[in-house]
Amino acid sequence: MARKVSKRKRPEKEKHQLKERFKIESEVFDRQSLLLLYRLLKKRIISSVDYCVSTGKEANVFRATAPSGKFVAIKIYKIETTHFLKRQQYLTGDPRFEKIKPSGKEIVKAFARKEYKNLEICERAGVHAPMPYYLLENILVMEFLGVGELPFPTMDMVGPLHGEKDLDSILDDIRKMYQANLVHADVSEYNIMIGDIPYFIDWGQGVVKGHPNAEKFLERDVSIILDFFEKHGIKRSLRKALKAIRGG
Ligand SMILES: Nc1ncnc2c1ncn2[C@@H]1O[C@H](COP(=O)(O)OP(=O)(O)OP(=O)(O)O)[C@@H](O)[C@H]1O
Ligand SMILES: [Mg+2]
Repeated sequence: MARKVSKRKRPEKEKHQLKERFKIESEVFDRQSLLLLYRLLKKRIISSVDYCVSTGKEANVFRATAPSGKFVAIKIYKIETTHFLKRQQYLTGDPRFEKIKPSGKEIVKAFARKEYKNLEICERAGVHAPMPYYLLENILVMEFLGVGELPFPTMDMVGPLHGEKDLDSILDDIRKMYQANLVHADVSEYNIMIGDIPYFIDWGQGVVKGHPNAEKFLERDVSIILDFFEKHGIKRSLRKALKAIRGG
């Protein structure tokens, strides 16, 4: 039987609400990402997208649920942004990503791939970071870091919650990364989430030691962390911290 199409004329209010809703969705999801999310649903990687955790310049992060009922985080790198063009130095110096075509979309996808690969290295090295689950073009599915329904806070919001213990854990994780050939290259209180222990997030720009600026990025990462802790009354020597990380 043919489906009956309602001839009811939509009242103005309903029309307005639909328009607003469409505006919100099209601001958060571009058409391409909606199609990819649909593919993730069909592949049973996720069963629902629950809510938006964060909207940023480079990416939007959502909490989603997997068919097992477990929460996951999905990070959708924005295709329609020129922000990544400024960040090409993190790709061109990294021997793993030197052959990327200089088109906007390929660069964005390369950052998503780079984050996924860096999370794999963290998992092998025992660095506290989300476990990577799945990558589909510009969408990364990973472990949801949170308690109950909500994500953990980032360190800028709560400060060094467990004092010296948090700093020890952060420096030891930076050492483990470095020993596994990896430098995060954007460490700050905004890219560390505080649960029972600190977790490093946002790995798109992380480089391997073969990158010509890897040592400079490492020094910048460590001094940003030491400055942050110093503001909270916990002081450590940069020289000694770097020596412990490099194992010299
Ligand atoms: N695995 C995760 N589990 C729970 N929440 C997460 C996870 N990854 C990221 N988030 C949340 O999403 C926010 C943004 O993530 P991330 O730093 O990776 O993106 P971004 O590209 O830096 O975004 P921005 O452009 O805002 O800097 C984080 O501050 C954190 O609150
Ligand atoms: Mg970030």
